[in-house]
Amino acid sequence: MPFDAFRSALSSAVSSSPESPGSSAPVAIFDSGLGGLSVLRAVRAALPDERLIYVADSLYAPYGERDDDFIADRTLAIGEWLVSQGAKTLVVACNTATAQSIAQTRERLAVPVIGVEPGIKPAALTSQTRVVGVLATAVTLRSARFQALAERHTGDCEFILQPGHGLVQAVERCDTNSPELVALLRSYVQPMLDANADTLVLGCTHYPFLDEAIRSIAGNRLTLIDTSVAIARQLERQLDSFGLRAAPAQAQAIELPRFYSTNDGQALRQLAASLLGLDVAVEHVVIPSRRTLALESDPV
Ligand code: DGL
Repeated sequence: MPFDAFRSALSSAVSSSPESPGSSAPVAIFDSGLGGLSVLRAVRAALPDERLIYVADSLYAPYGERDDDFIADRTLAIGEWLVSQGAKTLVVACNTATAQSIAQTRERLAVPVIGVEPGIKPAALTSQTRVVGVLATAVTLRSARFQALAERHTGDCEFILQPGHGLVQAVERCDTNSPELVALLRSYVQPMLDANADTLVLGCTHYPFLDEAIRSIAGNRLTLIDTSVAIARQLERQLDSFGLRAAPAQAQAIELPRFYSTNDGQALRQLAASLLGLDVAVEHVVIPSRRTLALESDPV
């Protein structure tokens, strides 16, 4: 069912019933890998009654090193799989996937789809020096969607755009503070400090897990802009507007998130435990798509 049909079916369901049929279904959150856990953390804090399913496409991360068609292909395949699991809404907790494929994903999926984008607007509102660093994947920074966003909010602000090569790979290895990682981060952040930046946009959902490493370099000189709390608020508004908000659960009935990974899931389990305090099993899942099937039949 296309989304418009879903919307009108839902509005008649909402007007006839205080709790629409889908409200007890889970919210799905997806990222190329572990970064979306920063969004999941904010969603759990804001919406503790919601059941959550998380998919990490770690076998194919980082998306920032992939071509546009590959990213769109994976986003759609994973979105379709999550809808087939009964998800009532999808959060694409990946700036790179949002930048490349959110419009097609919204067209194809029969549930509301929420994307993420670098916090350019809050950064422009926050910066006193009017110099803002933006750390994001190369794919995000070169996307038409990001360029339009930056143009809308530039005004008198200077944005220093820095692709975060190597940072997603580090977080995927659960490396958030090794000396090598700090040295790499320093090579990105120090030029921003030298240019008098006072604000840094974390334009990739993996990067909030590097906040301590960034602090060890910049001290309090940079205000870090992480949009995960804003995404959770946007999800809350969407659920409310479609009558999809879960009914309050008894504390003992609140389910832990269900985690799936396209690789062995070890790193997902480790990061969820160490950074979110969630000790849960991770299921391996195979989600074939046009491009990954082509890779398997022609690996070179
Ligand atoms: N967390 C993804 C993002 O927000 C990382 C993309 C990647 O895998 O390169 O962009």
